[in-house]
Amino acid sequence: MLYALQTVPGLGTLAWREAEQVLSSGPAQTAPRLVGIKAVPGRNDLVLIAHQGGPKPLLSLRLAEDVFVVAARGYRIAPDERGLRQIYAAVRAAEDVAPALEAWRRLSGLRKPGGTFRVIARTVGRQRYLRRDVGRAVADAVREGWPGTWRLVEDDGDLEVWATLVEQELLCTIRLSDASMRQRGKLRHLPASLRPALAAAMVALTDPAPEDVFLDPMAGAGTILVERAAAGPFAELHGGDLNSEAVNAMRENLRGVKGRIVTSRWDARRLPLEDSSVDKVAVNLPFGKQVSNEAELPDLYQAVLAEIARVLRPGGRLVALTGDTRLLEQARNRAARNLRPGPRQRVIVLGQPAVICEYTRL
Ligand SMILES: C[S@@+](CC[C@H](N)C(=O)[O-])C[C@H]1O[C@@H](n2cnc3c(N)ncnc32)[C@H](O)[C@@H]1O
Repeated sequence: MLYALQTVPGLGTLAWREAEQVLSSGPAQTAPRLVGIKAVPGRNDLVLIAHQGGPKPLLSLRLAEDVFVVAARGYRIAPDERGLRQIYAAVRAAEDVAPALEAWRRLSGLRKPGGTFRVIARTVGRQRYLRRDVGRAVADAVREGWPGTWRLVEDDGDLEVWATLVEQELLCTIRLSDASMRQRGKLRHLPASLRPALAAAMVALTDPAPEDVFLDPMAGAGTILVERAAAGPFAELHGGDLNSEAVNAMRENLRGVKGRIVTSRWDARRLPLEDSSVDKVAVNLPFGKQVSNEAELPDLYQAVLAEIARVLRPGGRLVALTGDTRLLEQARNRAARNLRPGPRQRVIVLGQPAVICEYTRL
């Protein structure tokens, strides 16, 4: 069976690594295989995975926002009117439709051979037809060709069919997850809050270990801390923020988490922590006009980086997300030369390009 994981743009490879680890530890006879990572530019990465077993373990992944089973694929879809007929034919006749529907049915528990469905169409490229024309071609193919009796609705269908056309390639999938996977249940968000999948990716890059003393010095609503707690055992979690509303939201979000957790209202330029007392730091630095006064950022980055370098133990790791790597590098050069830069991952945050930067404390 071919599955598709949808995640934040730039996180495809990391999401595959998590899926590979989770699926390989399950009962399936053969190892999962990465079929490809497709970018829906500016919007999502789609990770295509061939996997023999059922989809359940995929729904527990933290770096994916949605899980789909692939029902049909189409190639060399023409950018003119012929393209719509090709899409109809590809979706109507695909041999993967029946097993994909069966996987969805088993998961949803719906027994009837049909029901209501909705189509979500996305297009990227120079097609001369509209997104809604693609949606209509897919809907016609489902109604006229898929096993069972299917009635198209605008919202809240039993079945969600997602059709993604990137240039000449079509991917038609059935959604297996619901909104709770992306939103992590009742997590409280603030305007600058990270998407949980991105926070989970940053946590994964810290290499979580059970003895970790873990810190987020500018934790906002605590999204990174929540993901660290979900990633496995830890010794201590420390989080703080200058803003008291953020600290309240952080406390609310961490309420159900077990273990030693210390949350404070603090200034990350003067952390109440001993030198070399922390193993891992992950931080989403403020950037862009939306969340900060840009004129203050150079001094803030410098002071915060110096504090992080002070509290991290030698060999400790920092994973920092910023939209301004030049500023971060400048701050490191001036105030934290003992943080050795490692790999970087480009991502999109709140619609803006950003980079996850890794460092090791010398
Ligand atoms: C980009 S947001 C972090 C969002 C967080 N990762 C989340 O998902 O909710 C940056 C945070 O830094 C905080 N901040 C700004 N200056 C600070 C300072 N000097 N000390 C501590 N926190 C600060 C802001 O209040 C804001 O909550």
